[in-house]
Amino acid sequence: MVPVLLILVGALATLQADLLSHKKFLLLPPVNFTIKATGLAQVLLHWDPNPDQEKRHVDLEYHVKINAPQEDEYDTSKTESKCVTPLHEGFAASVRTILKSSHTALASSWVSAELKAPPGSPGTSVTNLTCTTHTVVSSHTHLRPYQVSLHCTWLVGKDAPEDTQYFLYYRFDVWTEGCQEYSRDALNRNTACWFPRTSINSKRLEQLAVHINGSSKHAVIKPFDQLFTPYAIDRVNPPMNVTVEMESNSLYIHWEKPLSAFPGHCFNYELKIYNTKNGHVQKENLITNKFISKIDGVSTYSIQVRAAVSLPCRMPGRWGEWSQPIYVGKERKPLVEWRLFVLPTAACFVLLTFSVICRVCHLWTRLFPPVPAPKSNIKDLPVVTEYEKPSNESKIEVVHCVEEVGFEVMENSTF
Ligand SMILES: *[C@@H]1O[C@H](CO)[C@@H](O)[C@H](O)[C@H]1NC(C)=O
Ligand SMILES: *[C@@H]1O[C@H](CO)[C@@H](O)[C@H](O)[C@H]1NC(C)=O
Ligand SMILES: *[C@@H]1O[C@H](CO)[C@@H](O)[C@H](O)[C@H]1NC(C)=O
Repeated sequence: MVPVLLILVGALATLQADLLSHKKFLLLPPVNFTIKATGLAQVLLHWDPNPDQEKRHVDLEYHVKINAPQEDEYDTSKTESKCVTPLHEGFAASVRTILKSSHTALASSWVSAELKAPPGSPGTSVTNLTCTTHTVVSSHTHLRPYQVSLHCTWLVGKDAPEDTQYFLYYRFDVWTEGCQEYSRDALNRNTACWFPRTSINSKRLEQLAVHINGSSKHAVIKPFDQLFTPYAIDRVNPPMNVTVEMESNSLYIHWEKPLSAFPGHCFNYELKIYNTKNGHVQKENLITNKFISKIDGVSTYSIQVRAAVSLPCRMPGRWGEWSQPIYVGKERKPLVEWRLFVLPTAACFVLLTFSVICRVCHLWTRLFPPVPAPKSNIKDLPVVTEYEKPSNESKIEVVHCVEEVGFEVMENSTF
């Protein structure tokens, strides 16, 4: 093994030395290098081999370097390459001829080209663009049963004039479409868009390109591009037909996979059992679509399930939306419960305060009995008699509190 390697290394070195020693052998840069925008957030780089390049039985390749908007580099033996990237800050790249797998030991000079950033005043482009997708039932069920809807929102550029109007376009693969359904802010500017159906396929790995440009009478509006990875922005629908059956001290929970193009085995589930009485939350991560839970028999529970697509079907994305809560146990109306608890408590508190005040006043009058002659006034008497009443009311207060306890006991016994 080692001798073979040595021979190989030796041979390579001889070849390189051979090439280098021939002063005439030069690598020439490619010609006609162009960068062309071929779609939203997409460019095509093209060049031709230098017609004067000497071949000499060696393999030639190209080393491409992207300089903007984000640095990247790669080697290719083709004379064309496609790049998907935001273009609102322009695009610049360079290319040179290299010897195949020579790791730039021998290379031509660079040729460069660029795509200028589109014009626009600073601060006029949209900010905080976010997009999400959902699976929906297709309108053409004979073609494919499911399609994907797209919803995007953004903020108006902080320096955009009041008359600015924004327009959103998306591209997925070769398909480009403009938004038809916008939501507007108070100044009638578009700030959200909804596509009920798109060409997006959330099983594919291609990037979704979103482009928002705009117009105004007072300024040139700078366009904005952003790329999204479909699986990362896909909000999985909640699981369907969630059912909960209560039998003695067990809950039998069952559900079906969400509305989705993925088959059942692709999903992970998270089950949340919330004990509304003591606030305890039980969470379970499951790959099956049923679960049996032990319960204490006296509490009320709310049950929700959510789903996520998992490997190997797709890169794991975020959890989807929770299903609507299902309540089991005795039905409680939170408002009624609140009133039953708070009102008697408040009443008790008021009455208690009252009685304390009365007692103090009473004591006060005893300690400092009204001085007969000059200070006497008739007002004091009825006030004192008023103060005497609360001893009665404090009983009512007790009754209220007992009622409250009674309610608790009753409630417990019915579970
Ligand atoms: C470069 O482009 C010019 C003009 O389009 C064309 O005539 C020429 O053939 C191209 N060169 C090569 C090497 O293809
Ligand atoms: C918009 O994005 C910026 C930077 O990412 C962030 O600081 C800001 O809170 C966001 N604004 C809103 C309203 O979400
Ligand atoms: C916005 O971009 C779309 C798609 O590239 C283009 O058709 C449209 O003319 C542009 N509108 C403005 C106002 O720049």
